[in-house]
Amino acid sequence: MADFDPQILNEPRIAPPEEFQKRARVRSLEEYQEQYDRAAADPEGFWLEKADLVEWFTRPVKTLEWDEPFAKWFVGGKLNVSYNCLDRHLTHRANKPALLWEGEDGKTAEITYAELHGLVCRFANVLLSLDVKAGDCVAIYMPMIPELLVALLACARIGAVHNVVFGGFSAPALADRINDAGAKVLVTADGGYRRGRIVPLKEAADAAAEKCPTIKKVVVVRRTGAEVAWKAGRDFWWEDVMNTAARECAAVPFDSEHPLFILYTSGTTGKPKGVLHTCGGYLVQTTWSTQLIFDLREDDVYWCTADIGWVTGHSYVAYGPLSNGATLVMYEGAPDFPQRDRFWQIVEKYKVSILYTSATAVRAWVQWGREWIDKHDLTSLRLLGTVGEPINPAAWKWYFQVIGRGMCPIVDTWWQTETGSIMISPLPGATPTKPGSATLPLPGIAAKVVTLEGLPVKPGETGYLVIERPWPSMLRTIYGDDERYRRDYWSRVPGKYFTGDAAQCDANGYFWVLGRVDDVIKVAGHRLSTMEIESALVSHPSVAEAACVSRPDEIKGEAIVAFVTLRAGQEMSGALRISISDHVATVIGAIARPAEVRVADLLPKTRSGKIMRRLLRELAQKGGISGDTTTLEDISVIEKLSHYKAAADDE
Ligand code: WTA
Repeated sequence: MADFDPQILNEPRIAPPEEFQKRARVRSLEEYQEQYDRAAADPEGFWLEKADLVEWFTRPVKTLEWDEPFAKWFVGGKLNVSYNCLDRHLTHRANKPALLWEGEDGKTAEITYAELHGLVCRFANVLLSLDVKAGDCVAIYMPMIPELLVALLACARIGAVHNVVFGGFSAPALADRINDAGAKVLVTADGGYRRGRIVPLKEAADAAAEKCPTIKKVVVVRRTGAEVAWKAGRDFWWEDVMNTAARECAAVPFDSEHPLFILYTSGTTGKPKGVLHTCGGYLVQTTWSTQLIFDLREDDVYWCTADIGWVTGHSYVAYGPLSNGATLVMYEGAPDFPQRDRFWQIVEKYKVSILYTSATAVRAWVQWGREWIDKHDLTSLRLLGTVGEPINPAAWKWYFQVIGRGMCPIVDTWWQTETGSIMISPLPGATPTKPGSATLPLPGIAAKVVTLEGLPVKPGETGYLVIERPWPSMLRTIYGDDERYRRDYWSRVPGKYFTGDAAQCDANGYFWVLGRVDDVIKVAGHRLSTMEIESALVSHPSVAEAACVSRPDEIKGEAIVAFVTLRAGQEMSGALRISISDHVATVIGAIARPAEVRVADLLPKTRSGKIMRRLLRELAQKGGISGDTTTLEDISVIEKLSHYKAAADDE
């Protein structure tokens, strides 16, 4: 959890830019408050009204069935998510671009709603021909290319459950996620481009599939043309199977609670959890929140820069915007390839009006300097957003002034993989903002800051962020582990959803999310678990024990510091240090590579043998140790660690 400077609470609020406010959906704080109060007085009535934002084949008969901690939303309703994202637009948006795609290598594609509908129907037929049935799981491991969006929607069309694994994860991490979900088919590509290099996705997919007995078929998009290994009978080229597939595929109605996807995310143990989302509630809330928070209009060009491998990509690249019939921009590669103005080139070229990105990206731009921005015309932008981690006020102000010319509201949106949709955020035409605060909960969202006993804390005091009532796009369970779902989310603070975040409310009732209170860390907005990294570290042949903590990082928000003890007879060397870091990258993915690997003779432990992460964190962040060390098994360990820190600095 980052240090919090209470001074920032006193900064004046910034009113929504006037021009924006004039035509916004919600135009004043009073209007927001009126909606919030109405929702609080009758949450079910409020959400039932929001259900009208999507098309149902059969309307729900009941808004919520709540058997804590298990929720069913829009009970009795039947819908098809892909129908809502495609078919319902064909009457009036058939020729509107749904997707403006740019590959890192400069290749582009423009796909209208009618065309996307055709592709999705075809691929849905492909999946059916590969024996995928409603309820079966399909794993997706792809670069950010149009086929990824097609695969997602095709699953939704036939009621298959997608399990997207971020292309930055390695083969073992992919295999774990496929095996946990029991996926039948894997959709991948021969590779993707990242900083001019080819990411060998098929190679990783092959290595994973070897360890996944449930995978019967693999569909491969030809993106790079690179040579790939081939297993006849199991592997199919995308273009081949698409060419023979029929163009028509009826959108079958599914129950509101039919599963839509499983998305693995990191928790407090080494085992990632499969967050399960279902169709009705998820679609209603992502559709609604996209309209409200991005103030989406028919002529907007909307760009959420997240990868579809993370929840932001699911909800705010794919489902929310497409359900609203938006034109979205999707970019395959790195923001600094070939140069540091790639994003601004894209904004200028496509006339992007809404830009939703990570705080890490903003901090990187600040460091890269204005010259990259000043080269481009960014006047098409009218709204900016951030997500995934706290944004420091200095970066916020830079984003507002330099990118937004002081004319674009910034929505700092707080939410989680588990919440499915944005929960706390300014409404861009209504909520005065404070740089660094996600401001106020959306109507219908009962967010509070409380003690572990569930008692409210006073303004300016730190407590736990909880949600007091169920909401439509909430996770339904952890796939295959109802008990863990109950324990992690609904038992820490009795009767309330526990977010894992610490927060404060200020005198205006604004929320300041301070960061995680558990072993989850955010490196460049990517959610990782220190425990997962530790188990990767101890699987290295030279490592005996490991403990990971994070330290603040100017750009990435947090960086990983790994403390290891070596097996008998092993000596630390530069080569071993690299081999240990590389090993983490091989087991999990490059995103989990430690920024530092430090060696100790022993790790500090309590008498009961628990590693004292607090001390390690202090060491990693400040270099020394203060505070209570009386529960330490071997105090000399700390001195040794401090010594090693000095040695590491000398290197
Ligand atoms: C953090 C990402 C501060 C938080 C959508 C949360 C934020 C975790 C914000 C979820 C924000 C997300 N300000 N912190 N605006 N948004 N977080 O599941 O710690 O990848 O619990 O979902 O990110 O991360 P996840």
